[in-house]
Formats: sequence, C-alpha cells, structure tokens
Amino acid sequence: MKGIILSGGSGTRLLPLTKVTSKQLLPVYDKPMIMYPLETLLKAGIKDILIIVAPDHAGDYLKLLGSGKEYGANFFYEIQDKPEGIAQAFIIGEKFIGDDNITMILGDNIYEDDFSETIKNFKSGGHLFAKEVSDPERFGVVKFDEQNNALKIVEKPKEFLSNFALTGLFVYDQRVIEAAKSLKPSARGELEIVDLHNWYLSKNELKVDILKGEWIDAGTFESLFKASELARKKSKS
Ligand code: DAU
Repeated sequence: MKGIILSGGSGTRLLPLTKVTSKQLLPVYDKPMIMYPLETLLKAGIKDILIIVAPDHAGDYLKLLGSGKEYGANFFYEIQDKPEGIAQAFIIGEKFIGDDNITMILGDNIYEDDFSETIKNFKSGGHLFAKEVSDPERFGVVKFDEQNNALKIVEKPKEFLSNFALTGLFVYDQRVIEAAKSLKPSARGELEIVDLHNWYLSKNELKVDILKGEWIDAGTFESLFKASELARKKSKS
C-alpha cells in the first residue's frame, strides 16, 4: 500500500489567510495542518508517500517535510498545475502508484481513527469512511441501506439524501488510475472524486465504514478553529 496526500487547491474559502501561503500549511494548534494527515498515513504503516502540491508553495512543503527520512518514510513530490479535481491526483500519481494499492488522504482532513487494520486487510475494490454530520450539503454524501451497504453517493446534494458525509480518505486498488482516466470533467470543470466512488459502487466493489472517532475537514474558518481545539484537547489528554 502506498499513500498520497493531496495538498493543492487555492484555499479561496480561507482568504485572506491563504493569500501568502497554502491552506494545508496553516497552523492547527501546534503544527502545520498537513502534519495531521501525514501522521494518519504513517500511523497506518504507509511508508511511501506522494505529496501533491500546487506550484506556488511547493518549496515550502519540501522545506517542511523533506525526504521523509526523519519519519522513517520516503516522500515524493508532484505538482498539480491547476485544481482540476481531486480524482486527477490518481492520474498525476500514475507512475508512483505503479501496480500497488493506494490510500489517498486530503491535506485538510484531520482524523482521530487509526486505519492500520483496514489498510493491512485491504485486498481490492474501494474502501471509504463516512461520518454523520449536521451539514451534509458541504460534502460528498452516502445513503446506506438497512445493512449499512452504500446505496447512493452524491457530491454536495441539493436535496437531502442522508447525514453521512464521505470523508477525505480513500483506499483503492490500482484500477483507480484507469477509472480516473475515463472520467469527464463535471459542470464545475473538475474530475470528481465521487465519480470514482460511483465507478466502484456500480461494480458492487465499494465498502463504506462509519468512523468512530472525530473527523474535521478544516477548510472553513469555523472548522479550522474546531480543528485547533481538538488538537489542543488531544495534546493535553
Ligand atoms: O472533506 C471531504 C470532502 O472533500 C468530500 O466529502 C467531498 O466528496 C470532496 O469533493 C471534498 O469536498 P471539498 O468541498 O472539501 O473539496 P475541496 O475542493 O475543498 O478540496 C478538498 C481538498 O483537496 C482541499 O484541501 C484542496 C484539495 N484539492 C482540491 C481540488 C479540487 C486539490 O489539491 N486539488 C484539486 O484539484
């Protein structure tokens, strides 16, 4: 299993904080935001990690994270020239992924859960993680049947579908590269991650677990503040 941290994008929702730096380098309590998803991958036993960044602040990531030696890991870097969608990361990462399975985490997603067991036991298909939220319209949303099997997945649904948000950690087999290459950009001009989820769902090869611990997408002022509070609480406990 290899890992990708997707840390590009323009961070416009956090202006002016992101005028001179990247969103994922902003402080969350006592460290830059990206250190949290990095720790999630390292804790899960992933040692080869590709960090995909936007061109503007690429040097800052290299300075912060370096070769990975310090963490007993190997870090690789790629540039995403324009924010053309989360699913594009699998095309950018094609060579890096090779014939391996891949876990991708978004650089602004902060988790309490430990994914080691899931990743150790993963064989094929797709494996996602959902969390009940009060504002599902902000996220990719999954509707479950009575046995908690995923039935339907929609990005930022306008009509209520369910309260379960799909969080930003995606475990896929190597076919995700071909699946990503087959996608067409959506109305907002992006290769959508939910289209990949649906590619696996339509083949009946998608598993969705419900997270036990806290999860924060730190992409808004409110959630960024909450993320710092959670990190502070954890560091004192
Ligand atoms: O946080 C989980 C949610 O992340 C999922 O529920 C949604 O299905 C998924 O689309 C995504 O929604 P967001 O509204 O949070 O997406 P956003 O455009 O903010 O991108 C999420 C992160 O990925 C952000 O830190 C920037 C990075 N990104 C995004 C795009 C579109 C890139 O690095 N490159 C990109 O092209």
